[in-house]
Amino acid sequence: QYTQLIARRVRELKVYCEIRPCGIPLDEIRAFHPIGLILSGGPASVYDRGAPGAPRELFALGVPVLGICYGMQLMAHVLGGAVRPSENREYGPALVHPLAPSELLAGLDATALPVWMSHGDRVEAPPPGFARLAVSEGQALAAMGDPARKLYAVQFHPEVVHTPRGREILQNFLSRICGAQGRWTMGSFVGEAVRRIREQVGRGKVICALSGGVDSSVTVMLVHRAVGEQLTAIFVDNGLLRAGEADRVEALFRRHYRINFVRVDARKRFLDRLQGVTDPEEKRRIVGTTFIEVFEEEAERIAGVTFLAQGTLYPDVIESTSTRGPSAIIKTHHNVGGLPPGMDLKLVEPLRELFKDEVRQLARELELPEEIIRQHPFPGPGLAVRIVGEVTEERLERLRQADQIVVEELRRAGAYDAVWQGFAVLLSVKSVGVMGDFRTYEEVIAIRAVTSTDGMTADWARLSHDLLGRMASRIINEVRGVNRVVYDLSSKPPSTIEWE
Ligand code: XMP
Repeated sequence: QYTQLIARRVRELKVYCEIRPCGIPLDEIRAFHPIGLILSGGPASVYDRGAPGAPRELFALGVPVLGICYGMQLMAHVLGGAVRPSENREYGPALVHPLAPSELLAGLDATALPVWMSHGDRVEAPPPGFARLAVSEGQALAAMGDPARKLYAVQFHPEVVHTPRGREILQNFLSRICGAQGRWTMGSFVGEAVRRIREQVGRGKVICALSGGVDSSVTVMLVHRAVGEQLTAIFVDNGLLRAGEADRVEALFRRHYRINFVRVDARKRFLDRLQGVTDPEEKRRIVGTTFIEVFEEEAERIAGVTFLAQGTLYPDVIESTSTRGPSAIIKTHHNVGGLPPGMDLKLVEPLRELFKDEVRQLARELELPEEIIRQHPFPGPGLAVRIVGEVTEERLERLRQADQIVVEELRRAGAYDAVWQGFAVLLSVKSVGVMGDFRTYEEVIAIRAVTSTDGMTADWARLSHDLLGRMASRIINEVRGVNRVVYDLSSKPPSTIEWE
């Protein structure tokens, strides 16, 4: 997570950067012609067996290097400094005192700097050639640098918000030490991406699965801008979409943008396959494999297709190239990377280097409508993972109506943009109610609304009681088969955003 955050901060400073695993061969680094390298933090100790390493030659490439946290210990260890192993971690806020003027801490040298520490081992003595640039309250080394070789390191985390002036430190490294100009913007990205797509695709035909979400919409717009008629967008209606969604997507892409658009009605096939299935992972697997099947059939109908465009984002790429083996699968995200076996197509992935917020900027650059850009994320397996228990047409309809009410009320209250996601979940319990003189025994809807910046962590949204009350009474009054509404108060972790 720190690594991704560092990359985001660097890009926010309008400098292009990529994350590479620490085992990358030196030749690959040279071929990339970097103007600077950052060695990121991590939980290991340089003394651990199999700890991430770096060859000595990395520091002799003539490229400036900034080590952060573990990166500092590694730099010290490899270049002949002393790293003291530690049993316990120093974790949390700290104050550091700059000792001498330096390019890295330029403009920050006069004061004590509040920073965020999170480390076990510490650098006891810097390697030969390095100056001590800052120390913490306990006189522990907090920053070091060798201006002649342009090697710098900090023990704390400049990338987190708890290091208020961390941004300036990164900026110093980028502009003063690496000589970066800070000219990388989304506007320049569009031209570059269009050029690259044309070069890759030539006169070939491209297909793209369009869901109407931001990522696939931007992918379709970029590829269309690059190769126009050579692109066909395929929209699979799996019956697990929100109310009116399929029509909205068709109206926008077919009629408004005049893009070759195929709408496949596969509602029955999905529903048949899901019949009687209650296990969440099984549902995800079924939706995933059925999608691929339907998509392949449609692709075969279009003669001479050689390319598949996908809206793979940078976090997907990073997660699938973890340096330490794949991280534990919590939920299967079926839309991440990779081609279905047997599909002989080349991948076009114009968003591979971008983070989500950058894709939103790009969407604005491409003049996609704000409703698409600002819409909440929606999972690939759709409403199937928002229905606990069996997915049936009747229950889907119930959930669609409830969901529409939640979203309408969020919008009406001006709260839609303030939450990361807000939606309804249909539970697998029934409860007793009374309507008029009659006893009812009907289903329960849970309202889920969370705040988040990236979906990795989330907190339940503090929606006003009035707003929640309006949602609840409308759902109970308007949605047949529902007699109770509850609000989900769990954060992530330990819960997840979706229920399944
Ligand atoms: P969880 O439930 O894991 O969700 O906290 C994190 C974010 O990911 C979305 N999500 C998915 N998105 N395909 C997707 O494209 C999926 O299979 C999928 N599952 C969850 C979820 O809506 C939330 O924004």
